Amino acid sequence: MHLVDTHCHLDFPELQKDFDEVLARAHSAGVKKFINPGVGIEESRKAVQLSSEHENIFAAVGIHPHEADSVDEKILAELEVLAQNSKVVAIGEIGLDFFKLRNSKEIQIAAFEKQLGLAQKLDLPLIVHAREADAEIFKILDKFPSLRGVLHCFGGDWSFAEKVLERGFFIGLTGIVTFPNAKNVREVAQKIPLEKLLIETDAPFLAPQKFRGQRCEPAFVVEVAEEVARLRGIEISEIAEKTTKNAEELFRI
Ligand code: NI
Repeated sequence: MHLVDTHCHLDFPELQKDFDEVLARAHSAGVKKFINPGVGIEESRKAVQLSSEHENIFAAVGIHPHEADSVDEKILAELEVLAQNSKVVAIGEIGLDFFKLRNSKEIQIAAFEKQLGLAQKLDLPLIVHAREADAEIFKILDKFPSLRGVLHCFGGDWSFAEKVLERGFFIGLTGIVTFPNAKNVREVAQKIPLEKLLIETDAPFLAPQKFRGQRCEPAFVVEVAEEVARLRGIEISEIAEKTTKNAEELFRI
């Protein structure tokens, strides 16, 4: 079985102490490729560095909405240089977070738009973070109609999922799908066309139900695949095959 963890922060401090074991456990669990998105410029540099050291780790570079106020011409220029590395497969994670609102909506929107411009210029897919910004995210994405990508860590309901799919985006499901009270996300897992599904851990965050409260690591992406398979009444091998194919096509890996 081959799986791709399409969103794990392998560069984060939480995963450094036993990094080699983390990768080994993921490998034993069937995880053959990893995508490590950046959240800030420092993390983007680290993601690119890790991808240069490990054949099966790919990087995305971008500034998360929590750090949107750091986006200036200098940062954009560095992102552009980093993004030209052959192991960089996407711009992300970028987007809007009106839940935590660590930066004003205006600052977040400006940073998002600038990075969308970069993705367009370099012809790279997007890894989008959207929280409590359902309407605004499309308003901005619609200014860049050629761009595609994934709405990562999906936490919305089916009607929002339909809009995401209409826009031609993939949906990334995390361990949230294993939480008994995440009814909306579980419904999306049942209804989404498999050719639009990606799986991810968002490690070190969001450990699935079985490991809830613990540090999350890429090996746990199996739990996501298993739960989606169970909810749909199909074999996990089918989820693995389809989501791996989707990830390989979207990110050209
Ligand atoms: Ni993330």
